[in-house]
Amino acid sequence: MNKATRKAVIAGNWKMNMTPSQAKETVEKTAALVKGKDGCDIVLCVPFVDIASAVEAAKGTNIKIGAQNVHFAESGAYTGEISASMLLETGVEYVIIGHSERRQYFGETDETVNQRTKAALTAGLTVILCVGEVLEERQSNITNEILSMQTKLALAGISTEDMKKVIIAYEPVWAIGTGLTATPQQADEACGLIRSVLADLYDETTAQSTTIQYGGSMNDGNAAELLAKVHVDGGLIGGASLVPEKFDAIVTAAQ
Ligand code: PGA
Repeated sequence: MNKATRKAVIAGNWKMNMTPSQAKETVEKTAALVKGKDGCDIVLCVPFVDIASAVEAAKGTNIKIGAQNVHFAESGAYTGEISASMLLETGVEYVIIGHSERRQYFGETDETVNQRTKAALTAGLTVILCVGEVLEERQSNITNEILSMQTKLALAGISTEDMKKVIIAYEPVWAIGTGLTATPQQADEACGLIRSVLADLYDETTAQSTTIQYGGSMNDGNAAELLAKVHVDGGLIGGASLVPEKFDAIVTAAQ
């Protein structure tokens, strides 16, 4: 397995955008544009309340639907939370876990990221696990240590077999929603570092077969250059995924 045999995954992260009717319209528009572009897997991660209309609109298309978070318990007294089995039954196939906005604003820790990852995998969902350094960490030259630590803690207790359903998204926090993008070189180095951590934790086959995405202001203008890098197997796209034409251009770049 290498870059040529790993299937790229282009995933949109809508964040807290789109009502259910807007979701329907946007999935339909996106589907019409990405039709037949089967050189990568295409996922849209939507707000919980949009899942039903997004799943319906994506039926029979090459778009799969994901959620943006999941709780780690199976059920119980967790007001406002959503479990993995609930997601699965609504037709969700993917879930983003550990996004920096969850870490920053909602008290997400490496430990809860690990618990959520386990719960999602047990239910049969594919996990898009986010890791990434903040600006001060990059400036202090500890990016590798941070990425290594976040990856190891998130994957604690997760088997080699389960890794087949784990995608890692390298998302430098300083590049998210800021218009600043990691250079292709920086993205490649960080994704390569994460791959070497996987080789240590598991084995070379697992490291080589895991999809590692880049995320952080990826758009129609910079996607091709980023996706050309040997360790960058796709993208997790925020802002540009809200505009079907831009998202389609990124999908096209991944073919
Ligand atoms: P952005 O978001 O593309 O808007 O920077 C990426 C993300 O947060 O996944």
